[in-house]
Amino acid sequence: MRILLTGGTGMVGRNIKEHKLAQGYKLLTPSRQELDLTNKREIYRYLNDNNPELIIHAAGLVGGIHANIANPSRFLLENLEIGCNVISEAAKIGIKNIINLGSSCMYPKSIQNPLKEEYLLQGLLEPTNEGYAIAKIAAQRLCDYLRSEDKSRNYVTLMPCNLYGKYDNYRPERSHLIASILVKLHHAKVNNKNSVEIWGDGTAKREFMYVEDIADAIWFSLPLIDKLPNLINVGVGRDYSIFDYYRKAAEIVGYQGSFTFDLKKPTGMKQKLLDVKRINDLGWFSRFSLYSGLKKTYDHYLETI
Ligand SMILES: NC(=O)c1ccc[n+]([C@@H]2O[C@H](COP(=O)([O-])OP(=O)(O)OC[C@H]3O[C@@H](n4cnc5c(N)ncnc54)[C@H](OP(=O)(O)O)[C@@H]3O)[C@@H](O)[C@H]2O)c1
Repeated sequence: MRILLTGGTGMVGRNIKEHKLAQGYKLLTPSRQELDLTNKREIYRYLNDNNPELIIHAAGLVGGIHANIANPSRFLLENLEIGCNVISEAAKIGIKNIINLGSSCMYPKSIQNPLKEEYLLQGLLEPTNEGYAIAKIAAQRLCDYLRSEDKSRNYVTLMPCNLYGKYDNYRPERSHLIASILVKLHHAKVNNKNSVEIWGDGTAKREFMYVEDIADAIWFSLPLIDKLPNLINVGVGRDYSIFDYYRKAAEIVGYQGSFTFDLKKPTGMKQKLLDVKRINDLGWFSRFSLYSGLKKTYDHYLETI
């Protein structure tokens, strides 16, 4: 099977490419220079020339809370463009199979946890990443509409929880929570700092999954695509407080100092735990423990510096 993977240079994309099951497929992974996904005409031409049978859509403008707060318009516009372009051009050209990546940020901010798939669009979004979430919801809905207009279209959105791991972005302006925690603790350790600041009071809870697990869930889903529902959460099924992540990461990095809390800084949603019954019932479970995931990520970070 010929598969187009968008976002092949990103954290998720690189882990999809390196997964052992990738070898069984002909994977097309154009870079942004070869295929700019904000350009509809280029996408149409690429699909026409290369004729993939399935698209794994893992491209997007992704960032942590700082970047989302600073540039909500860019997060909305680019993701809206990329998502709608890829999905609509695929439908136009007759591609029957899409695995579209959503995000747990798409769920309402004040709704009961764990977050079930049917809670989507049942309430207001978290303001710190609203632009990003609206764009991702639009792409998911587009998949649903196209699927309802033609039942032979297997357009499925996987909704991963927060991800971290190998090929994460460690630059402070782009990084997500786990990468930024590891970098902060590492710098504190090597510079003999005896205190590290945490945004908020550290009690907000988050579910984080090691990125090789999402790659595994995608390859697991692929042969089942014509039997899958439109929306499936993918996560580890448990969460920890932000302070817990700091403490666990400190153990791995070897940071022995203390922590302070900046209560004026935003922390986003209080809890964001996915209900993973649907994917577990299909037979998929995450494999990496928090300890092994953090350890692999820190080792990767050390290799990059
Ligand atoms: N990271 C998470 O915690 C997380 C959690 C849930 C869901 N997701 C979803 O997973 C997907 C991948 O995330 P990620 O963490 O792998 O992000 P990432 O590391 O930032 O990678 C994003 C990818 O998208 C590509 N891209 C962006 N704009 C493009 C454009 N105009 N044309 C072509 N390619 C473009 C980037 O190419 P360049 O290398 O050229 O920039 C890169 O390959 C996204 O849909 C995201 O919403 C991520």
